[in-house]
Amino acid sequence: MPETVRCAVIGYGPMHNFGWAHCAWIDHTPELELVGVCDIDPERTAAAQADWPGIETWHSTADLHARDDIDLVSIVTPHFTHCPLAVEALEAGRHVVVEKAMCLNVAEATHMIEAAEAAGRTLAVHHNRRHDGDFRRIRQLVQDGEIGEVFQIDLQAGGYRNPEHGWYTQKAKGGGAFYFWGPHAVDWVLALVGEKMTGVTGFFYKKVWHDLDIADHVRAIIRFESGTVADVTWSHINAAPGTLWRVLGTEGAIIGTGGATRGYEHAVSTPPQGSVKLIRISDRGHKREEMEVPNLSNDWDTYWQDLADHLLRGAPVPVSGHDGRRTIAVFETAEKSSQTGRTEPVPYEDS
Ligand SMILES: NC(=O)c1ccc[n+]([C@@H]2O[C@H](COP(=O)([O-])OP(=O)(O)OC[C@H]3O[C@@H](n4cnc5c(N)ncnc54)[C@H](O)[C@@H]3O)[C@@H](O)[C@H]2O)c1
Repeated sequence: MPETVRCAVIGYGPMHNFGWAHCAWIDHTPELELVGVCDIDPERTAAAQADWPGIETWHSTADLHARDDIDLVSIVTPHFTHCPLAVEALEAGRHVVVEKAMCLNVAEATHMIEAAEAAGRTLAVHHNRRHDGDFRRIRQLVQDGEIGEVFQIDLQAGGYRNPEHGWYTQKAKGGGAFYFWGPHAVDWVLALVGEKMTGVTGFFYKKVWHDLDIADHVRAIIRFESGTVADVTWSHINAAPGTLWRVLGTEGAIIGTGGATRGYEHAVSTPPQGSVKLIRISDRGHKREEMEVPNLSNDWDTYWQDLADHLLRGAPVPVSGHDGRRTIAVFETAEKSSQTGRTEPVPYEDS
């Protein structure tokens, strides 16, 4: 068994400093070794070399895969490139971490999963925001039964502003309005509920920003086996945005207003920031307690230690391709439902 996993990062983009972030997480994890960065833009490989002196750089993935001493690549490129770059890397014998959104649609996700199975390599999706301190606290409060049985989860973000954001807001490249923040929200919901989805109802609105080909306002209502419902909304035309998180249970509620992740994209982890509000109801509604519960730390580096544990010691993969496909399936099903006007079943959910 090798002692370290030799890694290359594909994509060192300027928009969110996220190629840097992947390099930083790899560099921070003792058993992962940062060998180099591949980006088609020479300015970006120059930036990578300045940030990480001594690394190698490549300007095409063909040159990167000509090497036989790279164990893992992490893909931090625009969404429309994720499937082809992941399949190419898997076929070249690399393990793959692919950024959210995993890909553009369920067919691509299935192609990636099958390529990983055929190659006998790991495909992991970088849903690292399961490690956000507010989500970790909310999950812990729910698992400890602090609000009883959860029956409704509302998550909403965005506001009223021009969505223009480069390739993210071109449907063919970014995937659509759900694919920027939506992967975090839907992954949180799926991780929190841990049940099969029985259907998704979607509402897509195109009212204001006609110079772009993505929706202005998207909403997915996800139904689960036990009857629990999650309502996820992302908007560029919501002039009255509500709270980020609202979790309703039979004995209380949790409210989270965000602001727990300052420093994100520039730090491998941070100490706890902020708090969530816990409301506890007892005595058949006569007694109500409200308290602020401090968030946990943002331990985003744990994703990468979990990955090393998976590759070197056979621990579970942090977020599998099958998990990533469920999130993509929610977006695809929501869009289909917005067109049919019906609640639609979710592909692969019963297989
Ligand atoms: N997990 C998170 O919280 C989080 C945060 C920010 C971004 N992201 C994700 O990271 C990914 C990249 O987003 P970004 O904001 O850094 O985009 P970006 O446009 O800033 O960077 C993309 C980089 O990829 C390079 N590139 C494009 N095609 C390539 C190819 N075929 N081979 C090599 N390099 C190529 C571009 O030259 C560019 O430098 C997206 O999937 C995005 O959703 C995730």
